[in-house]
Amino acid sequence: MKFYIDTADIEEIRAANSRGWVDGVTTNPTLVAKTGRKHEDVIKDICREVNGLISAEVLSTEANAMVKEGYELAKIHDNIVVKIPMSEDGLIAVKKLASEGIKTNVTLVFSPIQALMVAKAGATLCSPFVGRLDDIGYSGMNLISQIIQIYKNYDLPTQVLVASIRHPIHVLDAAMTGAHIVTIPYKVMQQLVNHPLTDKGIAQFLVDAQKVPQ
Ligand code: G3P
Repeated sequence: MKFYIDTADIEEIRAANSRGWVDGVTTNPTLVAKTGRKHEDVIKDICREVNGLISAEVLSTEANAMVKEGYELAKIHDNIVVKIPMSEDGLIAVKKLASEGIKTNVTLVFSPIQALMVAKAGATLCSPFVGRLDDIGYSGMNLISQIIQIYKNYDLPTQVLVASIRHPIHVLDAAMTGAHIVTIPYKVMQQLVNHPLTDKGIAQFLVDAQKVPQ
C-alpha cells in the first residue's frame, strides 16, 4: 500500500519524506489555505520536494472551467494529478483530461456507486473519505471494501486512495482491504510508529545497560 501525505505544509512533507513515508502528496483548498501562500507556489514547492504523484485541486465547478484549470495545473509538473470534486461536471472534466493523458483524482466520494462512475469516466485515482462517513454514523471502511470489490469484479484500473484518515486503525483497516493508496496526515503517520511497549522496552534496555561491566 502506498502512503501519500495529506498536507500542503512543506515542513511536514520534508520531515515525512526524510523518514521514508512519502510516496505521494494530496492537497485540497483547505490544506493550501492553512499555508497562507499562493496555490501555484505551494504546489511547485511540493513538486521540487517529492518524487511521486501530487494531487492539486481545481476550484471551478463547471466542466470547461475545470478542464482549463486542469491544463494549468498539469503544466506545473508531470507528477501532477488534477483533483476534481465528484459531480456530473467533474466527470465530464475527468473524461476530457483523461483522454489527453492527464492524470485525475476524483475527491469527495461517499458511495460505491459514485466510485463506479469515477472509474467509468477514466479517473486515475478515486478518493473516498472514510473519516467523514464515520463522523455521521456510517462505516467508512465498509465503503472501501465495496469499492475494491467492484473495481476487482470488472478489472477497472482506477486506484482507490483512502482519504479523510483520522487515526492508525483507519490505516490498518485500509491495508486489510487491499486499498492501493492511503493518504495520511503527518500527525497520524507519527502515531503509526509509536507503541508504549516499545518505549518501555527501550527504557529497560537503557537501565540494564548501566549494569553491564565496563
Ligand atoms: O484527503 C482528504 C482529507 O483531507 C479530508 O480529511 O479530516 O478533513 O475529513 P478530513
